[in-house]
Amino acid sequence: MNQWTREARYRPLSDLAPEVYQLMKEEVRTSPWRFSFHVQPPTGLLNDPNGFVYHDGTYHLFYQWFPLGPVHGLKYWYHLTSKDLVHWFDEGAALIPNDDPDSHGAYSGSGFVKDDKVHIMYTGNKRDQDWVRHTSQIVGHLRSDGRIEKHLPPAIATVPDGYTEHFRDPKVFQHQGTWYCIIGAQRNDLTGATVVYHSEDAESWMLLGELNTRYPDFGYMWECPDYFELDGHGLLLFSPQGIEPTGDHYQNIFQSGYFIGQTVDFPNLSYQHEDFLELDFGFDFYAPQTTLAADGRRILVGWMGLPDITYPSDRYKWAHALTLPRELTLEQGHLRQNPVRELTSLRKDTLYEQHLVVEQQASPVQAEVFELVLSHLAISSGQFELKVRASEQEETILRYDTQTKRFTMDRTRSGAEVPAIEYGTTRSIPLTEPLHTLRLFVDRSSIEVFLNDGEAVASARIFPKSTSQGIVLSGKATAHLAIYAL
Ligand code: FRU
Repeated sequence: MNQWTREARYRPLSDLAPEVYQLMKEEVRTSPWRFSFHVQPPTGLLNDPNGFVYHDGTYHLFYQWFPLGPVHGLKYWYHLTSKDLVHWFDEGAALIPNDDPDSHGAYSGSGFVKDDKVHIMYTGNKRDQDWVRHTSQIVGHLRSDGRIEKHLPPAIATVPDGYTEHFRDPKVFQHQGTWYCIIGAQRNDLTGATVVYHSEDAESWMLLGELNTRYPDFGYMWECPDYFELDGHGLLLFSPQGIEPTGDHYQNIFQSGYFIGQTVDFPNLSYQHEDFLELDFGFDFYAPQTTLAADGRRILVGWMGLPDITYPSDRYKWAHALTLPRELTLEQGHLRQNPVRELTSLRKDTLYEQHLVVEQQASPVQAEVFELVLSHLAISSGQFELKVRASEQEETILRYDTQTKRFTMDRTRSGAEVPAIEYGTTRSIPLTEPLHTLRLFVDRSSIEVFLNDGEAVASARIFPKSTSQGIVLSGKATAHLAIYAL
């Protein structure tokens, strides 16, 4: 992509004549693989979910956006609203990187409600004449016209001693009446960490210090931290970079995962926690962010993509989508992730619903964009396979081995082009319970699978032909099977 010179990447959208941008939008709309029920950019590149917050009957969700092409360049925040976490309304670009501290990008950040208004805190990314990075953390609020007004100068103007300029992605939350924000950081010795600030008014912020974890040397940068409490446990989510693959783990270019432990002792910054666990064992998942729903549920949305990976849709001037929203719960100290219950409102026709006995092979229906629920699954022995988006030439395979209790997602033949092939084309996870439930959401170019009522989740982008619509089950099993057109 050599047309993407530095100059081209840092061009603002306002440089483009409206007719030219309109043409680009139309070109993107005709692209194969555009999603049917996922959040995707109108043009250009989407990355991290940002500013996810509920206020006064409405969910606000923003994402990192480079409008002009499928590459990382001058980042805006694009804004969506929803009443139900399922149907999103397009509110357009809300945060424009046109001030000195964010002149090279309005980077990731979070949302919070204060004084009955949606506020945000994000990272201003600036490069000087020598292309040296300067980061600051900026507070803003959402105006009634849907745009964000920045409260300049930045609330946190410089990086504290001990850290490099890779210091970003503030997540704001309240804890026992005090405002805190946790920021992703890189120490001067090039290891990742998170740093905590506190505030009385969420406008002027004071450094508290680094959060003490059991992982002082785990990758070179921790991006997009998020801290919240669930059933009396403290969870820290973050996206570490620079972790080597080991066994089934850390197979993608970068990882996203969590610690679960006791609640953080603010202000001593001590945190007793378990080992790091990945959130998603698929291929395309990064930089997740959570918020609290109207009724107290903890909801997570991730970027269904990764940095530095090219996708076939790039040719059509757009890249990436957000994952479906997931509800996080704890069961006996273990995290479960399930699709939010509101997603059942996407169901159109019931294509199939029946008790099914698979003797060898069954091909119940054909579908391109669908939800599939296999429940009360009882596999007699050996392997059980479910192929979707299948045809003579291509198929995406989900496979369970009763002996090893391993579940595998295989996208080797998922389409003529498979992204990130150098990182391998299968992902596996050992399940703790035998496979009894599988819930699958398939869009034009993605698949998200939830196993055993949220014990494990895998997300992947796939790029099949639109005519590859076969659904094939094989093995020896009985189950209840429902398939809904979405
Ligand atoms: C994660 C990330 C963040 C940064 C943003 C820039 O994908 O690198 O750390 O704020 O993307 O778009």
